[in-house]
Amino acid sequence: MEFHVITLFPEMFAALDAGLIGRARSEGLIAITAHNLREYGLGAYRQVDDAPYGGGSGMVMRPEPIAAAIDAVEGESPGLVKILMTPQGEPFSQRIAREFATAARGLMLIAGRYEGFDERVRALVDREISIGDYVLTGGELPAMVVIEAVARLLPGVLGNPASLEEESFADGELLEYPHYTRPEEFRGMRVPEVLLSGDHGKIREWRRNEARRRTGRRRPDLSGATRKG
Ligand code: ADE
Repeated sequence: MEFHVITLFPEMFAALDAGLIGRARSEGLIAITAHNLREYGLGAYRQVDDAPYGGGSGMVMRPEPIAAAIDAVEGESPGLVKILMTPQGEPFSQRIAREFATAARGLMLIAGRYEGFDERVRALVDREISIGDYVLTGGELPAMVVIEAVARLLPGVLGNPASLEEESFADGELLEYPHYTRPEEFRGMRVPEVLLSGDHGKIREWRRNEARRRTGRRRPDLSGATRKG
């Protein structure tokens, strides 16, 4: 799957050379290309932003460089889903990650800087996505979050795809059960006896109950939560 990012800081995307995503990249399972928005800037200074009409502080990203960058990337690689990274977007979720991983040929992510985009940029994209209710200085980290969450769902990217089915939000409704490994006792805290029992039926039941209880306590907004516990 192809990921294209339009950004003023293409060098930030070298962070995706690490770990499993880096391996998927070098094995050719995914391709991540960061396109420098500055190259599409206006005039001798390659301007990409300007003062807001109506006054006020901060700078606004002009629409023409972004439109030119989108057209260039689209010409090179047609059929990408175009996504604007913005705190005003639809909240990103595992459901959306799954949708992109299964339905999209590739993603074009547009990362802004400064105070925001000229409103008319919104007409150029298919989706607007926020990674949470906080404001970052730019859309680069949000774009990386989306790439990471989608890429790990693609066939061959994870070492052990079975772990995809068990993890939090896999069915969109429960947090994961607690995990333990060696040692059996650590600073007075023991591994629950049932996990050492070898009784797989009991273990499954314990995990299901723990997942429900934990979801009820931490995330009662999720549908699989039980209220008590
Ligand atoms: N750009 C700045 N903050 C952001 C956020 N929370 N989500 C997506 N893009 C952003």
